[in-house]
Amino acid sequence: MSRKILVTSALPYANGSIHLGHLVEYIQTDIWVRFQKMQGHTVHYVCADDTHGTPIMLRAEKEGITPEALIEGVHREHSADFAEFLVAFDNYYSTNSEENKTLSQGVYNTLKANGKIGTKTIEQFYDPVKSMFLPDRFIKGECPKCHAKDQYGDSCEVCGATYNPTELIEAYSAVSGAAPVRKETEHHFFKLSDCEAFLKEWTRSGTLQGEAANKMGEWFESGLNDWDISRDAPYFGFEIPDAPGKYFYVWLDAPIGYMASFKNLCDQKGLDFDAYWKADSDTELYHFIGKDILYFHALFWPATLAYSGYRTPTQIFAHGFLTVNGEKMSKSRGTFITARSYLDHIKNPEYLRYYYAAKLNPSMEDIDLNLEDFTARVNSDLVGKYINIASRTAGFINKRFDGKLNPSTNNPVVAELKAAATQIKEAYTAREYGKALREIMRLSDVANGFVADKAPWVLAKQDGQEALLQAVCSDALEMFRLLTLYLKPVLPKLASQIEAFLQVEAMQWTHVDASLCATHIINEYQHLITRIDPKAIEAMVESNKASLVKTETLAKAAPAKVADAGDYITIDDFSKVDLRIAKIVDAQQVVGADKLLQLTLDIGEEKTRNVFAGIKSAYDPETLKGRLTMMVANLAPRKMKFGMSEGMVLAASDERGGPYILSPDVGAQAGMRVK
Ligand code: 2FM
Ligand code: ZN
Repeated sequence: MSRKILVTSALPYANGSIHLGHLVEYIQTDIWVRFQKMQGHTVHYVCADDTHGTPIMLRAEKEGITPEALIEGVHREHSADFAEFLVAFDNYYSTNSEENKTLSQGVYNTLKANGKIGTKTIEQFYDPVKSMFLPDRFIKGECPKCHAKDQYGDSCEVCGATYNPTELIEAYSAVSGAAPVRKETEHHFFKLSDCEAFLKEWTRSGTLQGEAANKMGEWFESGLNDWDISRDAPYFGFEIPDAPGKYFYVWLDAPIGYMASFKNLCDQKGLDFDAYWKADSDTELYHFIGKDILYFHALFWPATLAYSGYRTPTQIFAHGFLTVNGEKMSKSRGTFITARSYLDHIKNPEYLRYYYAAKLNPSMEDIDLNLEDFTARVNSDLVGKYINIASRTAGFINKRFDGKLNPSTNNPVVAELKAAATQIKEAYTAREYGKALREIMRLSDVANGFVADKAPWVLAKQDGQEALLQAVCSDALEMFRLLTLYLKPVLPKLASQIEAFLQVEAMQWTHVDASLCATHIINEYQHLITRIDPKAIEAMVESNKASLVKTETLAKAAPAKVADAGDYITIDDFSKVDLRIAKIVDAQQVVGADKLLQLTLDIGEEKTRNVFAGIKSAYDPETLKGRLTMMVANLAPRKMKFGMSEGMVLAASDERGGPYILSPDVGAQAGMRVK
């Protein structure tokens, strides 16, 4: 039965480039959409740039352009990146659209009519120089827990504490540097707490993965808070209809952007918008998202829809983050790789699509892009196994039989490949792509085994083996056709090149039951795919290290996490290091250690610190006692062979000598901070 399915990926913020972390989601979704389309279902895949909010407004201001000009440029860039990665949206729109404005205001009006909107006067930080209220991320100050300087208003990057911006010590505006003042303002709230019974029911109805449903359970337990959906001018967004000077918070109109993008598609294609969005719709709606935005999609979004007269999502599919070489993406390691940089160096987007697919499953676990494994896997699976089947057999058909096939009847390997269709289909349906590809590669091994066993290159040299040679190669190409069909959701461009080579129509899943029959003529076999050169990977990593944007602060936007800012560190990075004047109250030899001395350091805290320092070659411990030096006080404690080392003493050395421990100027005292 043909189903009607609407699918979305999360809308990327219009203030940064698409990177390999983002692509996990778009590739995951695109594979699923292509697979469902191959099943013959009616599928619409929509997305858009998420364009509103303070960061975009301020970035445009900094660049001296209007927010509209900024988001237009980013829209072009994002659209090109997605197209080149073969992410085939049926519509890629913008949340800053008329459709979205109308829909957002409509949603708000209905929620209000249903008694789900309230107002409350709240106190917020306000920048008196810039005359604007400050979002938490734009207030900085000293962490109330560990006293690290220049921490964001919502959480400390040094000790991980989360808090309210009001708790920051010596808070300042990241926009103007001014000390923010507290100011009252009336905000609009969506009464999420009224929706608990509905949300509990919705959660139970199979809409979420197990892990996500558990998370919901935790949120229910800690109680649902009403959701602040308004922001004061100046704000780049939509004004609230009955509240001049108040704007919808970006997260209110962002998911409505899914509807708006679809509405725009409906208007282009004459589709029935209401059939997909009305409350009792019999169509299906799936949202692919990163696990970091589950709260928005599993709480706010279904509640918003349900109480504004629309249908709710059929299912939410959340995935994990991307790590590269086992670690968070990092600019200084060159692993913060943009989509464009990948395309410039590696060229072929299908390698990444294949690798991600091989790693993906329906869970919220993080996936790792190990660059060495990526090269090895693509080269061995795609070139060594899959393409090998055609490259070893097609030439004989082209040269010896004018491209004409003459397959055998009842080849058991062909039958085995056909029989696997159901299992592969089930794996794709369940987003078990890794499982699907393992099975497809197992079948490629079986097909290669068949070719190796029949050895067409030997038959080609023997007299009287023409018919057998033609049958063996024809069967191998039938196997190749089936494998191509199974891989098509992942490798759509390669599949279409192979469709042209095999002279078959665009493959649909039902074509599993078809066959390349006798007298079918194929085209000349052309080289289809080359191995990844490890040097291209190295060059990509190097160029990402080199192209560090030194002053860029990375928005939290992406589903991938960013570790650090690069060869240059920002003042924010520096302030993460808690440098302290330390008094060496005791220094001892360490039995069994060649290089270490054990130091007891007073850094103005109740407890002294125990630090092992590699300075034995230069210092007699007795001469160190009572001296002042400098230490990194917030280095994570390290367990060493001789005990726990709770920080690091600073010392200088190079080929001219050392180590020389650093000393502060006269007057400094133990515990003083170096800033
Ligand atoms: O987290 C993000 O990157 C958001 N821009 C996602 C929005 S998804 C949807 F709700 F609009
Ligand atoms: Zn802290």
